[in-house]
Amino acid sequence: MKKKRYVNLWWKRKDVATDPLCPNLNIFRFLKLNNFNFQNQKKVLDIGFGNGENLIEFKKRGHRIFGIEIRKNLLNFFLKKNGLKKENFFISDITKNLPLTKKKFHLIIMIDVLCYLDDNEQKKVFNWVDDHLYKKSLFLFSFTQNDLLQKRNKKIDSWEISRKFYKKAKVNFDRKNPMKFLNFENLMKKFSYTNMKIIGSHFDVSTYSKKDSSKLRIGRFVLMKKN
Ligand SMILES: C[S@@+](CC[C@H](N)C(=O)[O-])C[C@H]1O[C@@H](n2cnc3c(N)ncnc32)[C@H](O)[C@@H]1O
Repeated sequence: MKKKRYVNLWWKRKDVATDPLCPNLNIFRFLKLNNFNFQNQKKVLDIGFGNGENLIEFKKRGHRIFGIEIRKNLLNFFLKKNGLKKENFFISDITKNLPLTKKKFHLIIMIDVLCYLDDNEQKKVFNWVDDHLYKKSLFLFSFTQNDLLQKRNKKIDSWEISRKFYKKAKVNFDRKNPMKFLNFENLMKKFSYTNMKIIGSHFDVSTYSKKDSSKLRIGRFVLMKKN
């Protein structure tokens, strides 16, 4: 019998109905800064949409929403709770099967999912995204570059994030979480066979620690546009 990927087991354990918290501001700000027209109705696909908070925000703004998730129970809960059409959502392990659909989208987002895929799987996803975007449409993805641990005391007014104060964590803060840190240059190489070009990238620093800034997560958002 084939051994189940640890990543899949990790998500299987988390496959339970969960209420959305709130959308990710970075996504909406990044799109707005790049003149995304929120007025015209768009078809928006979220790959690995999780609790669905970002999709709900697009829906509130009048867009048509679509999603892909490996977690069946979570997906069904999300559809039921929000009265959504089943045919616009795909239960799929994207490392095995990307949905066979002729649908095309104006925007595809993929927030913190690539870190669970290997190089070849990432490449396949980028090609699939390329095939499923209308011309002049956007692909927005994010990933974690590194986690940083504070190594000496600093005053709150000292905002410096440098080697003097932080060291890189070898594995991510939640050691059991099978996510990997990704490298921007490596990811960009995988777009060479697509019709997408980068139009911008945002640095994103978030605090991981409960009470202070002793643990920082360094993330990046990247916006690609199809020719
Ligand atoms: C860190 S969560 C991010 C969720 C959401 N994008 C967000 O920003 O809140 C990663 C998501 O990717 C999904 N995922 C991981 N591996 C997957 C796979 N092989 N196929 C489909 N979805 C996957 C997980 O179920 C989870 O919802």
